[in-house]
Amino acid sequence: MSTEATETTGETEAEGPEEPTARTGPRRRWVPIAVLIVVAMASAALTWLLITIFEHKQEAKSPFAQTVQLTDTTYDPAVWGENFPIEYEQYKKTAEDTDGDFVKVDPTADDPREYHTISRIDSETRAQKMWRGYAFAVDYDEPRGHEWALQDQRYTERTAARFKQPGTCLNCHASMPQVYDELGDGDRQAGFDALNAMSYDDAYEHASSSIACIDCHDPQTMELKITRPAFMEGIRQAKAAEGIADYDVNRDATNQEMRTYVCAQCHVEYYFAGEGKTLTFPWKNGLTVYDEMNYYDEVGWTDFTHEESGAPVLKAQHPDFETWSQGIHAANGVTCADCHMSYNREGAAKVSNHQIMSPMANDDTINSSCLTCHHSTADEMRERVEGIQNRWQSSLDVSFTALDALITDITAAADDGTATEEQLTAARDYQRKAQFVVDYSFSENGRGFHAPAYSISILNQATDWARSGQLALRGVEVSNDVGPAVPEQHMPSGSK
Ligand code: HEC
Ligand code: HEC
Ligand code: HEC
Ligand code: HEC
Ligand code: HEC
Repeated sequence: MSTEATETTGETEAEGPEEPTARTGPRRRWVPIAVLIVVAMASAALTWLLITIFEHKQEAKSPFAQTVQLTDTTYDPAVWGENFPIEYEQYKKTAEDTDGDFVKVDPTADDPREYHTISRIDSETRAQKMWRGYAFAVDYDEPRGHEWALQDQRYTERTAARFKQPGTCLNCHASMPQVYDELGDGDRQAGFDALNAMSYDDAYEHASSSIACIDCHDPQTMELKITRPAFMEGIRQAKAAEGIADYDVNRDATNQEMRTYVCAQCHVEYYFAGEGKTLTFPWKNGLTVYDEMNYYDEVGWTDFTHEESGAPVLKAQHPDFETWSQGIHAANGVTCADCHMSYNREGAAKVSNHQIMSPMANDDTINSSCLTCHHSTADEMRERVEGIQNRWQSSLDVSFTALDALITDITAAADDGTATEEQLTAARDYQRKAQFVVDYSFSENGRGFHAPAYSISILNQATDWARSGQLALRGVEVSNDVGPAVPEQHMPSGSK
């Protein structure tokens, strides 16, 4: 690991407790001979120490005898667990409630789960209004650990018969290499195409486990590996937009990039394109919310017609990767795994925490996730994160209020005939824009943290669009031609 960010970790003398950047000034000192000798001896000792540590690290990389030979068809994570028991134990723990959002419920025949998570549409009722006429207005909960991904999708009301979901849903909620192999007879791209065209219920029959080792790792080398065709294609297009042609992620990505990309196979905005319901990431124009919106306008995509206002609108989904890509941590090469899978020491071994969760879960996680770079305390980090999230929440509140008002006004104007068809069309277009951005920021899981300034800036734009929509209903001309409010930040390539 030698990113710009991690290079700063040794700077214990940096001024300002929470600034990770190196701030050591020049040091002028008079050096007597005695000191020089001591330094020489110390550096010899240090060299020896470093060599020892290095050898140790080499050992730590494979502290376990490979008891099982893993192959491309070793799908079962328990088998991998025989070689890597620590990672396996941590991985199983993603079933735990780490941030107190589990809610006990009475299991039914339709939904045998004993616990749900807190409902996000009960705690934010304006989201129900935003999604009126779409499945998300019926059921949308807080996310929880990966062990739940398959069950939560199977039993959400959003996959109930009346919503007729395609097999495409399964791509991010189950261990897929086995499903692709089965459906494509060993050809994973063909398996992907076959899956997307199936019904959700038929597709589900092929799933045997939630997200597993083989979804992120090459079984022979244990290196990180991209297994999802939608990401391979999406990142190829995003790189092309940055001027990099023919990008093949498994061939061209650095290890540092892979520490983000394995997560970006799923934690992204997506839609189901065409008759084949192909899982597609809208990254042809780039990774900002405006790039994605422009893409949807270009291909003429609409997720649903708003039940009250009649506007043709979009539904945004967890754009965690895209939002991260516009933030200060991405700019410094800090990856998803740095914060969500921080290194822990387990005896002699250095292990990436496979209990993937919020880094703010407790003092230990904050210590290993943040304090490696930030010379601060757990309490202070907590305060900084809460500060960012509270400011984001207040911007979100303003945007939601504006969007809510626009929906109410369009609905009323359409009912009582106070606006012309032209005015209604203009206002509905503003709703489409404002709604996508509000939805995007609300559905993103960092609550503003992954890119603080960017998140607030896009919400400002959303509020302006919602208010412009209200003006349009009153016949006031406002320029519809608003460019991106923020310059695009290119994806860092990281090093190594
Ligand atoms: C591109 C990957 C991807 C696809 C495709 C996908 N999901 Fe998800 N889903 C995720 C991720 C990542 C999360 C966790 C983050 C979150 O909840 O925002 C999630 C969370 C969920 C949850 C738990 C939280 C909630 O929303 O209540 C449910 C249920 C769910 N998805 C259902 C579905 C259904 C139904 C489909 C198909 C219409 C689908 N998913 C397709 C990636 C995906
Ligand atoms: C969501 C993706 C993901 C899943 C699922 C996953 N890993 Fe990992 N794993 C990672 C990442 C990221 C790293 C860090 C790799 C790096 O930086 O080179 C890692 C590292 C490792 C390493 C190297 C030592 C270490 O801990 O850093 C081992 C061994 C490993 N994983 C085993 C497993 C096993 C066994 C499973 C299944 C029980 C598993 N992984 C599931 C993402 C994943
Ligand atoms: C195959 C798709 C997939 C991959 C790959 C993936 N995730 Fe997830 N992730 C999900 C889904 C789906 C959920 C929601 C599960 C649920 O709520 O039932 C989720 C939930 C989470 C959560 C919420 C946990 C909690 O306790 O609330 C975090 C954090 C997270 N993922 C981070 C990551 C990171 C970091 C990586 C990469 C190392 C990653 N994910 C890779 C699909 C994925
Ligand atoms: C600099 C550290 C950092 C990086 C890098 C980072 N995150 Fe986060 N992430 C956080 C923090 C802090 C939160 C807020 C946690 C909270 O509120 O409890 C968070 C929240 C989340 C959540 C919701 C967790 C929950 O329990 O609800 C998900 C999912 C997530 N991040 C995924 C990602 C993905 C995917 C990436 C990479 C594209 C990423 N994060 C990069 C620090 C980071
Ligand atoms: C690998 C190193 C690294 C890790 C891990 C890391 N950070 Fe950072 N963080 C940085 C760097 C570098 C900056 C940018 C500093 C600058 O340019 O002044 C930064 C900036 C920040 C900022 C200022 C954000 C802004 O937009 O101004 C906050 C807050 C922050 N980090 C919190 C966290 C938290 C919380 C965690 C753990 C969940 C964390 N960081 C983990 C390196 C890291």
